[in-house]
Amino acid sequence: MTDLLLELGRNSAARGTIRMLGLPLPLPQSLQRASGPDPALPLADLRAVVVGVDVGGGGGLGELAAAAARSAGCTVEREAATGAATASVGAHGTPLHALLVDAGEVSSVADLRVLYDALHGRIAALNRCGRVIVLGRPPAGSREPARAAARAGLEGFVRALGKEIGRRGATANLLRIEDDAETRLAGPLCFLLSRRSAFVSGQALHIGHLARAEATQLQERPLQGQTALVTGAARGIGEAIARRLAEEGARVLLVDLPSSAAELSAVAAAVGGEALHCDLAAEGGVEALMADLQGRGQRVHILVHNAGITRDRTLAKMSPAHWDLCLAVNLQAAVRGTELALSTGVLRPSGRVLCLSSIGGIGGNPGQTNYATAKRALMGYVEALSHRLGREGGAAMAIAPGFIETQMTAAMPPLLRQAGRRLNSLGQGGLPEDVADAVAFLATPSAIGLAGQTLRVCGQHLAGA
Ligand code: NAI
Repeated sequence: MTDLLLELGRNSAARGTIRMLGLPLPLPQSLQRASGPDPALPLADLRAVVVGVDVGGGGGLGELAAAAARSAGCTVEREAATGAATASVGAHGTPLHALLVDAGEVSSVADLRVLYDALHGRIAALNRCGRVIVLGRPPAGSREPARAAARAGLEGFVRALGKEIGRRGATANLLRIEDDAETRLAGPLCFLLSRRSAFVSGQALHIGHLARAEATQLQERPLQGQTALVTGAARGIGEAIARRLAEEGARVLLVDLPSSAAELSAVAAAVGGEALHCDLAAEGGVEALMADLQGRGQRVHILVHNAGITRDRTLAKMSPAHWDLCLAVNLQAAVRGTELALSTGVLRPSGRVLCLSSIGGIGGNPGQTNYATAKRALMGYVEALSHRLGREGGAAMAIAPGFIETQMTAAMPPLLRQAGRRLNSLGQGGLPEDVADAVAFLATPSAIGLAGQTLRVCGQHLAGA
């Protein structure tokens, strides 16, 4: 569905006219996105400045981040937090894409000043669609109340900053790195720096060691040799996920309703995958699917539970059938599907399970008690599942999209649709490709430090923000 304001914003003449007439129309910034498979050096055309207290010191988070970004091709300069304003254009005319703040040593209220010192004089130099990434330590790891408070403050900072810079298409996120999980920083950092995270803002991600697998270096076609099963793959987000996983080298098994057979087969043909027709909510549907895969000796390394439906009604008016169907498709199919995949050996415990949750499961929307229950449950599920799979090197993560332009949201009443689209820091809806980019990243070995977590792809939507 076309977003008129975004289209107007892309047209410089229309932008100029609206500005000249002083019309109160907030034109969202068109986001810069990546397409095609990731090259060997995905950050090759980007420039970042790392600022922080440990400049010149060894082993700090800033230094690790600089090394990780450089190894992905990024041009990285390092500056002291209290230094002069950063140049908006680098030596070779490269605009400033990212500001990384090393707040790893923050342990008191006074230390929080590093945030102000690092960004006050530099934020104006950040290019459109740029990135601010704050690197810190988790508050929970500290028994010192003042230290925990200071570390917790980092999250408030990025959430507020994300709302300030979002109208320029820029994002702000926090990476909290547990002690001894530093080797797992590169994957999440490079994802957030890249144009694959255009619709991720205001998030605090925790990098830990819930899963035991070794973190690996970024690599080209990281999913080569792996098989991924994606449910609800006939259209929308599921289709985008299937295309993206195939792009990064995975063989894809695509599942959808028998009534979507034609669309599913077309997508399967486009990605060189296999179409499997199954109603995941029907009695015995999931069982039959897994039995078929087991019978054919088909192994799956990545399980993506994407199929979802809404059956919106206020609780007092909701029929039991709508409650049941919503929970069956969004939640039970994922839980039962994973359990069966593991017990039949279709999925090894070292595999990756990715569940499509929703910000509706975080903030809750009126008329969606069924949907919010299911989507929140998935967040709890991936955390508990990661405890179980983590011992064998496996991991589960959830992805919580905000307003994404698909048939699901096109079916919303027009006013609600407009509000849903605008109520985030970037002032626009996301694309299915934004969610697919996040899923493809979480499927890679380099995302292992995020085991058990929920990644929001919502442009910092106000629901639960
Ligand atoms: P969509 O409605 O465009 O596609 C959903 C797909 O799931 C369809 O192809 C449908 O046939 C399939 N499906 C539904 N019931 C099924 C069943 N019983 N068995 C097999 N397949 C079934 O939805 P969209 O927008 O692509 O959403 C994908 C996922 O992302 C869903 O889980 C949804 O809840 C979630 N999500 C979407 C958001 C959005 O803004 N579009 C926001 C937040 C979450």
